[in-house]
Amino acid sequence: MIESANSTNDLPLEASIPDGAVSLESVLCTEELRRRPWRPPDYGKENCALVALAGALADSPRTILQTLAETILEVTQSDSAGVSLLTTDDGGKRFYWPAIAGVWKPHIGGGTPRDFGPCGDVLDRNIPLLFSHLERRYTYFLPITPPAVECLLVPFYVGGKAVGTIWALKHDDRRKFDAEDERLMGALGKVASSAYQSLVSIDDLKFQIAEREKAGTALHELTNVLETRVRVRTEELEQRNEEVKTLRDQLYKENVALREEIDQASMFEEIVGASPPLKGVLARVSKVAPSDSTVLITGETGTGKELVARAIHKRSTRSSRVFVSVNCAAIPAALIASELFGHEKGAFTGALQRRIGRFELAEGGTIFLDEIGDLPSDTQIALLRALQEHEFERVGGTSSIRVDVRVIAATNRDLNAAMAGGAFRSDLFYRLNVFPIEMPPLRERQEDIPLLVAYFVDRYARKAGKTIGNIDRRTLEILQCYGWPGNIRELQNVIERSVIVCETETLTIDESWLRHESLKALRPVQPLAEELVARERQMIEAALAASRGRVSGPSGAAARLGIPGSTLESRIKALGIRKERFKAP
Ligand SMILES: Nc1ncnc2c1ncn2[C@@H]1O[C@H](COP(=O)(O)OP(=O)(O)OP(=O)(O)O)[C@@H](O)[C@H]1O
Ligand SMILES: [Mg+2]
Repeated sequence: MIESANSTNDLPLEASIPDGAVSLESVLCTEELRRRPWRPPDYGKENCALVALAGALADSPRTILQTLAETILEVTQSDSAGVSLLTTDDGGKRFYWPAIAGVWKPHIGGGTPRDFGPCGDVLDRNIPLLFSHLERRYTYFLPITPPAVECLLVPFYVGGKAVGTIWALKHDDRRKFDAEDERLMGALGKVASSAYQSLVSIDDLKFQIAEREKAGTALHELTNVLETRVRVRTEELEQRNEEVKTLRDQLYKENVALREEIDQASMFEEIVGASPPLKGVLARVSKVAPSDSTVLITGETGTGKELVARAIHKRSTRSSRVFVSVNCAAIPAALIASELFGHEKGAFTGALQRRIGRFELAEGGTIFLDEIGDLPSDTQIALLRALQEHEFERVGGTSSIRVDVRVIAATNRDLNAAMAGGAFRSDLFYRLNVFPIEMPPLRERQEDIPLLVAYFVDRYARKAGKTIGNIDRRTLEILQCYGWPGNIRELQNVIERSVIVCETETLTIDESWLRHESLKALRPVQPLAEELVARERQMIEAALAASRGRVSGPSGAAARLGIPGSTLESRIKALGIRKERFKAP
């Protein structure tokens, strides 16, 4: 119901009027309204209006408000009607007009200040108010045409809280508002309020759901993107790992092959010497090379065991394939099995990757197992199996690997003594000793010394960019009489050093470089006797080589030399010649 702005409960409107504002004459007394002719309630009209509002229920809050404005316009027969709402984005400093029907419709979106305006007055007092000529009290209405001759405002509630007003205007004096208009506006306002509230809540809920769905979709998409990225990255890494592994294996193989090739290029050279013992060795090399037999080369250090092993490979049907050399003494016992047979990833601490062994590397070629006497006993068993069955397992592996590899082994140890002492398996020895070759020590082939000296001088002089045409006679004598415990390697080193320090065209050596105990043999006071002994040894060894180690008999060495077999036997013994070296394999 409309109350007078002058009632005792009223807020003093004057208090909110700024200086110079117009008088209160625009606010009409309730009595004035009540004095107007009474009309019976028009429920039919009200029902139609409620149906119109109900029809807008399923729509947006803005449609509800516009429908409300239009029904108010109709039921109150006013010229303009609308809804004012407090702004929310600035803390409620203004009223804005979201919905207007009738003449003022073009002013949708306009508004009034919160603190000095008709809507503010209604909210402050929380009662309906009736104004005449708004523009007289609130001068900012002056430019708005046509003017509001009479204005009826009722509070608009949302969720029980007054958030704005519903208003109706008459722009002329033809008909005035009455109590029935106030009743209708109040009733329609209530229905619109709850509808508006529900729609705002639903909209809010929809917004929240949409936001959550959006966030959920974004999260899902992000997860998908991340999962895809992780999968792609993992696949890439796996592929790279695989490539790296392949490349590493390949590189390792190539490295080894290259190393072997370099070794071969620098080491394979003519086996210099014409002494019968060396000729005997070379004859055996030529015989065994084309076969695939396992060869065991024995002999003192530096006698040329590796050189001979390479010569066998070079003359074999496998010469175009790789020659892989393994020095069993140079590899720690714990690693030798993995070096020979390879290992699987994780086979032991530090086995980070699968690695193929020398046997696999040597596929189709020759493996040279140097210093075989130093092989630990457990690896001897594995080697025995590889020799017998031509297959082995990688360390930590379970499947057998078959290889086609020729084995040449060498040692400077006395394997018989090692077997007797239990350090070397006899079954392995017999497997290796299929075709034995024993390298004669240099002291047993002194006649090779001049040839070897000439060969090494030429080689190192060329390397040093020097011209050395002669060898000092005394030097040669010293070299020939020296015992050469280090054999050809020692001779090679002495010559290399001598060439480096040599400043003339004649090579001399520094005697102090030779071990003195080995020089005891040097007897310069008896050069003829030495010469004779050397010549005798040379002739006997040549005869033994020609007769393949046979002393007696028509084709024996004694017959070739024209002396009795017993005489030859005693000379062989006296000169320390080992006739078994000349025997045919
Ligand atoms: N008859 C030869 N003619 C030329 N050079 C030789 C001859 N014999 C050996 N050599 C050279 O002597 C050096 C030692 O030879 P090699 O390495 O083959 O000996 P080894 O018996 O395997 O020695 P170790 O027992 O110490 O391993 C090598 O540089 C090799 O080229
Ligand atoms: Mg060697």
